[in-house]
Amino acid sequence: MATVTFDKATRIYPGSDKPAVDQLDIAIEDGEFLVLVGPSGCGKSTSLRMLAGLEDVNGGAIRIGDRDVTHLPPKDRDIAMVFQNYALYPHMTVADNMGFALKIAGVNKADIRQKVEEAAKMLDLTEYLDRKPKALSGGQRQRVAMGRAIVRDPQVFLFDEPLSNLDAKLRVSTRTQIASLQRRLGITTVYVTHDQVEAMTMGDRVAVLKGGLLQQVDSPRNMYDRPANVFVAGFIGSPAMNLIEVPITDGGVKFGNSVVPVNRDALKAAADKGDRTVTVGVRPEHFDVVELGGAGAASLTKDAEDAPAGLAVSVNVVEETGADGYVYGTVEVGGERKDLVVRVNSRAVPEKGSTLHVVPRPGETHVFSTSTGERLSD
Ligand SMILES: Nc1ncnc2c1ncn2[C@@H]1O[C@H](COP(=O)(O)OP(=O)(O)OP(=O)(O)O)[C@@H](O)[C@H]1O
Ligand SMILES: [Mg+2]
Repeated sequence: MATVTFDKATRIYPGSDKPAVDQLDIAIEDGEFLVLVGPSGCGKSTSLRMLAGLEDVNGGAIRIGDRDVTHLPPKDRDIAMVFQNYALYPHMTVADNMGFALKIAGVNKADIRQKVEEAAKMLDLTEYLDRKPKALSGGQRQRVAMGRAIVRDPQVFLFDEPLSNLDAKLRVSTRTQIASLQRRLGITTVYVTHDQVEAMTMGDRVAVLKGGLLQQVDSPRNMYDRPANVFVAGFIGSPAMNLIEVPITDGGVKFGNSVVPVNRDALKAAADKGDRTVTVGVRPEHFDVVELGGAGAASLTKDAEDAPAGLAVSVNVVEETGADGYVYGTVEVGGERKDLVVRVNSRAVPEKGSTLHVVPRPGETHVFSTSTGERLSD
């Protein structure tokens, strides 16, 4: 087992002047499950391939434990990688596929057989050992690819979107299997996906990349509760966080007819930058629906006596998932129409075409700089 360190690791592909991965800095702990996530082309696979030795490193360093592996060939790094397409040998049986790397390494037949059988047992593949890959389901092939990595007992596992060829249901069950197997084996793991739900459910920590730049590396909980910037805020969470640019006023920000109190230091930081607005983030589950005529908006200052407090949302679509209801609507903020998603009680969903009044729950707002996108609230 070992730690993995990306130390300002940079990859610039020949013919390009913009790095595909730009000074990546992550220290992964021994036994940790780290997920790299981000939109297509953000540099996830490149980062993983740099660690695997399949891609040159043009700046910085990569270490596994105390070993500087920056310029070591892949075979000397003691890693095992599982690819999206599994890359199984079609003419070999499952057992031979799983034991192939050990055979190449000159391990004797009896030891190979023992390791393959152990791994097959862990992966529920025992009865398929004599089959060829083409006679397996997608999920079984995926497990053979896992088995091939496990038998090598490497210091580090690398996965590049290993579930993307599976259907939605199998993906969910397989991700749980991989995560629990990793915990049992305790092998340091770097896992690439573009699926933020996969990232949040599997990772001890999640690293979000955008345009080759690391945006934030944090536990799933912190990533959700304290996104470091507008990009992470919008990327992590489904439905996504509402992000609305609002004017700064005395004591808070102006949300429709209400002034919502937000972190004062955050507003001061924005004003110090010369900004007149901030970007406020509110997750769909963090709105309170205002009962008109009720006491729902007691904590808020109204600046127009006869207008109802909060934001008026015209309801366009209501999505009911059974447990929850999501309202997709439009609001008018500063003369502009904006989309807004609000989670509501599934027993009290509003009518399509009706108007709902909502206020962000105090203490559950995120404040970002409109000019830089950086988080301002703590
Ligand atoms: N061999 C290559 N030569 C030149 N440019 C490349 C090469 N491989 C990748 N790139 C570029 O580097 C950037 C990062 O690519 P990378 O494959 O790491 O993205 P990714 O995050 O894995 O995306 P995806 O989710 O689509 O797999 C992209 O802009 C891509 O076009
Ligand atoms: Mg990729």
